[in-house]
Amino acid sequence: MALRRVYLDHSATTPVDRRVVEAMLPYLTEKFGNASSVHFFGQEARAAVDRARREVASMVGARPNEVVFLSGGTEANNLAIRGVAEASENYGRHIITSEIEHSSVRGICDALEKKGWKITRLPVYDDGIVRIEDVRASVRPDTVLITVMLANNEIGTIQPIAEIGSLVRKEREKGNRHLRFHTDAVQAAGRMHVDVESLGCDMLSLSAHKLYAPKGAGALFLRRGVRLVAQNVGGHQERERRAGTESVAGIVAFGAAARIAGEELDERVAHVRALRNRFEAGVAARIEDVVFNGNRERRLPHLSNISFRYIEGEGLLINLDLQGVAVSTGSACSSGSLEPSPVIRAIGRDDELARGSIRFSFGKDNSVEDVDYVLEVLPRAVANLRRLSPLYQKATQARACESETV
Ligand SMILES: Cc1ncc(COP(=O)(O)O)c(C=O)c1O
Repeated sequence: MALRRVYLDHSATTPVDRRVVEAMLPYLTEKFGNASSVHFFGQEARAAVDRARREVASMVGARPNEVVFLSGGTEANNLAIRGVAEASENYGRHIITSEIEHSSVRGICDALEKKGWKITRLPVYDDGIVRIEDVRASVRPDTVLITVMLANNEIGTIQPIAEIGSLVRKEREKGNRHLRFHTDAVQAAGRMHVDVESLGCDMLSLSAHKLYAPKGAGALFLRRGVRLVAQNVGGHQERERRAGTESVAGIVAFGAAARIAGEELDERVAHVRALRNRFEAGVAARIEDVVFNGNRERRLPHLSNISFRYIEGEGLLINLDLQGVAVSTGSACSSGSLEPSPVIRAIGRDDELARGSIRFSFGKDNSVEDVDYVLEVLPRAVANLRRLSPLYQKATQARACESETV
């Protein structure tokens, strides 16, 4: 019997939509020009990049000339944070971020800290959400940047970005003119309504491959008038904010994916939410000793993060993979030991729950049959792993003793 393959890792990357492939194909073949060339081929490529810029801008309520194309979310975060840090260091060297940012933002802040920048990392409490009072209390006269993600990539929690945006506006009115606000919307775009005006951010990061377009394209929304120092230099592309020949086909694909995501947003959200809710209800009914991570309401509709007590998430991931189900863990394998996910630790889970956490992320092409298949194999996989777990043996013996004594 053929193995059923169920992909539940859409937060890692998404398959490329066929309509997106069709839109980009001509730009790999007959329309191959360099968008900087003056001749017909170049102008054809330039027109396609400009169209994609309008499409991406429209998805987030920006003006086309506020969109800088680059290679993806990591580069967008680098340009935003390093670029503003370098442009503002004469005004102050303090940055506010959260404890649950993507590793790219974390890594950039750690690197700046080593160079003498002061970094405040806001806590997210047990529901995985930053509190606006904490942001307010952290702002100092030398704060030049706040960078807090719109939605988290491991637990999906949605942060109070519009509130931070209005706080930043008030701080500027009070005299902190150099304060800038960046948000990483890589996970949020295409999964919730994103509008740079209502969010009040100065910069917003996007990545094409989370939106059913290929890897290798992304964008930074850069509000008109916000100054930053380019990180890629040596060319005039992207109005000198990101040198390097544009990946025209990748950008065209990104534009098409952004347009389709805008058109289909409500339908996609309803679909993935229904699948995710069916899945979570099934898990709660079939598997004991599970903990759902992150606020249950203020989170992305496609994502479910669950800790399974008494087992290692990596073991469960491999077991599910053998049965055709693709998921992910937040733990990182470093120097032979499994480091528990910093995000799950930040919401106060103990080591055991942090190690036993799995992210299931649904996509537009998943079906009810996919969910039901996973609900069939997952309880068996958990039971098999628990049977081998000394922790589980101990817990069941203790429970048996308790019920005898009651
Ligand atoms: C929240 C978030 N930010 C940034 C990135 C990095 O994006 P890219 O893979 O395009 O570099 C990711 C990718 O997983 C992400 O989830």
